[in-house]
Amino acid sequence: MSTQKIRVAVAGASGRMGREVVKMVLEDESLQLVAAVAPSAGPIDAGLFAGKPETGVTVSATLEEALSSSKADVLVDFTIPHMAYGHTKTAIEFGVRPIMGTTGFTPEQIEELDELCQEKGIGGLIAPNFSIGAILMMKFAAEASKYLPHVEIIEYHGDQKLDAPSGTSIKTAELISQARQELRQGNPHEEEVIEGARGGYYNGFRIHSVRLPGVFAQQEVVFGGHGQTLKIRHDSYDRAGYMPGVNVAVKKVMTYSGLIYGFEHIMD
Ligand SMILES: NC(=O)c1ccc[n+]([C@@H]2O[C@H](COP(=O)([O-])OP(=O)(O)OC[C@H]3O[C@@H](n4cnc5c(N)ncnc54)[C@H](O)[C@@H]3O)[C@@H](O)[C@H]2O)c1
Repeated sequence: MSTQKIRVAVAGASGRMGREVVKMVLEDESLQLVAAVAPSAGPIDAGLFAGKPETGVTVSATLEEALSSSKADVLVDFTIPHMAYGHTKTAIEFGVRPIMGTTGFTPEQIEELDELCQEKGIGGLIAPNFSIGAILMMKFAAEASKYLPHVEIIEYHGDQKLDAPSGTSIKTAELISQARQELRQGNPHEEEVIEGARGGYYNGFRIHSVRLPGVFAQQEVVFGGHGQTLKIRHDSYDRAGYMPGVNVAVKKVMTYSGLIYGFEHIMD
């Protein structure tokens, strides 16, 4: 008995994450690459991005073009924050389940996109981080904040990253805020001698974004208590490390309706 393959479109296919997604899809026999989007790509075969010509999938310049002819089941998007909301909406309009690795959504947008997914009766996922270690780091940080509520987040990324703070640090901050008692930290008379020195303010605590060449993706959540600190740290070294999570997401998104925010909700 042959089961139907899941038809996958990839936006940002020529990017660093997108190329890994193309490769992952081509290597999984239960998935079929049916469309790829890369701006000003022209008629290139999508497999070229993964070093595998002859996939028979031409790269489109826009998402609309790619989805109008491909009958995709799922869109995997790793593009730029500026495009994230528009791409999600377009996918839902076409009845294609969005899996958004791109960050940069407001809570209002997430709520609206969830409603649109429910109206269409399709699933969707916005996942600031697909790596299992990073999800555990967030869970452990939320748990620790119940006992050590004084906390700051330091996240490190490459110097070309467009958004700050990172989607992962915002998600971590949200989970901490749900778990710990409300607390405004630090000295109320504190003054910043250099603007931004204390980092971004989130619900009583601070997030610091480091941007340097040579860095890939790391995050440290630092807790302070009486005579002690606790550091929970996650280091990503490689984009391929996100792909097992993306693969699980592509399969799971076929099984529910509505937009889920956070890979932790579907990884078990
Ligand atoms: N969720 C996660 O686990 C995770 C992990 C790593 C990176 N990211 C995010 O994924 C995104 C991509 O990261 P990257 O390292 O691959 O960046 P990248 O710069 O290598 O790739 C981005 C790609 O998007 C393409 N692009 C830009 N505008 C587009 C448009 N309108 N339509 C289609 N494609 C367009 C660019 O041509 C480029 O190829 C970033 O937002 C990054 O923060 C998420």
